[in-house]
Amino acid sequence: MTTSPLAAAADLDDVDFAFEDAPELHQVLAELRASKAHAVVPFAGAHAVLLLTHELVSAAFKDEDTFPASAIYPLTTGPVLGRTLQCMSGREHRINRAIASPPFRRNRATDYVEPILEPLAHELVDRIADRGEADLVEEFTSTYPVLVISRLLGLPVEDEQTVRRWAHDLFYYPFEPEAAKASSREFTDYLRPVLQQRRSEPGDDLISRLVTESAEDEALTDEQVLSFLRLLFPAGADTTALGLANLLTGLLTHPDQLALVRSDPQEHVPWAVWEGLRWEPPVGLLPRLCPEATTWHGIDVPPNTFMIFSINAALRDPAKFADPHRFDVTRRETAMLAFGQGPHTCAGTWLALAELRTALTVLLERLPGLRLHPAATAEQVRVRSQVGVALRGPRSLPVQWDRP
Ligand code: HEM
Repeated sequence: MTTSPLAAAADLDDVDFAFEDAPELHQVLAELRASKAHAVVPFAGAHAVLLLTHELVSAAFKDEDTFPASAIYPLTTGPVLGRTLQCMSGREHRINRAIASPPFRRNRATDYVEPILEPLAHELVDRIADRGEADLVEEFTSTYPVLVISRLLGLPVEDEQTVRRWAHDLFYYPFEPEAAKASSREFTDYLRPVLQQRRSEPGDDLISRLVTESAEDEALTDEQVLSFLRLLFPAGADTTALGLANLLTGLLTHPDQLALVRSDPQEHVPWAVWEGLRWEPPVGLLPRLCPEATTWHGIDVPPNTFMIFSINAALRDPAKFADPHRFDVTRRETAMLAFGQGPHTCAGTWLALAELRTALTVLLERLPGLRLHPAATAEQVRVRSQVGVALRGPRSLPVQWDRP
């Protein structure tokens, strides 16, 4: 691919947005946005257009003609996840989404999702509750969403460690491509007979729904089901894991806000979840590609230019949110942009929100006096890029609580 001739206009040159975000990322984004709604920044040795306002990021998500998801995902995830929903467009995308996304919606999912969420959160807390301290990233946030997916798929509990390894390897594809490809093959080989068995004897699990349902008189092929299932780990588990860790980081580093949520969880937990997603959205800087030359909202974009949809700048845009850098659970605003917009908007929004609410409620109920460990350093709990810039979260969350 040719790179775009944007170099002359670069607004910043010390951070390559393809690999690492700046330590003070929000400050960098706010300073850039103070002068322009977009900036030109280094990206993988070339330059990308970084969209910084709520208005531009929202418009860009909705503009599939100019920034089609199908232009970038086959390059970034195709080799390991296959032809997922994110690589599709038009009728193919419509049919695949019509079959794959309803099982995650509230009206269809409550009966088989809710019995999984709360018992699983308690199961994980049971392992640590007596101890009085733990790293919540290691022992809770990074585990809970993977196991939710594994149980939704109806996979045997004894296979969960293996499923966790596959999920981990798929996530680290940019750093360890061979391990990721090997795990992708193993996961696929493991699933093939499961698909066959569920087709002949469907149960109440997600795989049974995927192999038996149809839309516009078309059913999914095995490969379409398999690529959707491979996508579920990076798209559905890692995002939620980081979202939960970011929410806990916000609360643990703002003890007054944590105390407020604890004082009336029923009232505050749902809004704290939205504030966590706004303050540090787990999908922070989403790369896309603009294949054709265009002038978009007054920005001249050469062909094959990388675009970065800065969801995290959009959700701290002062034109949209008052005092935007403040973590404030009493805001009564949703942050839907955290889930994207337009045709490729998140298929698991309801499930993600339900997981975040359930996990936070159970942690607060079971770990009285939950607080950051006094030895935890700001660097340890800093929200940072994880495997490239798109996903952000802390590496660890050392905490203490009052033992029963
Ligand atoms: C807090 C958690 C989550 C966040 C922040 C999040 C965010 C996002 C975003 C921003 C996109 C759009 C990507 C793009 O336009 O390129 C997306 C797509 C997607 N998400 Fe989520 N997600 C979360 C949880 C989940 C869960 C739990 C599932 C499980 C079902 C899921 C499944 C998907 C799928 C399948 C897509 C692709 C949709 C399509 O291309 O049509 N996500 N997500």
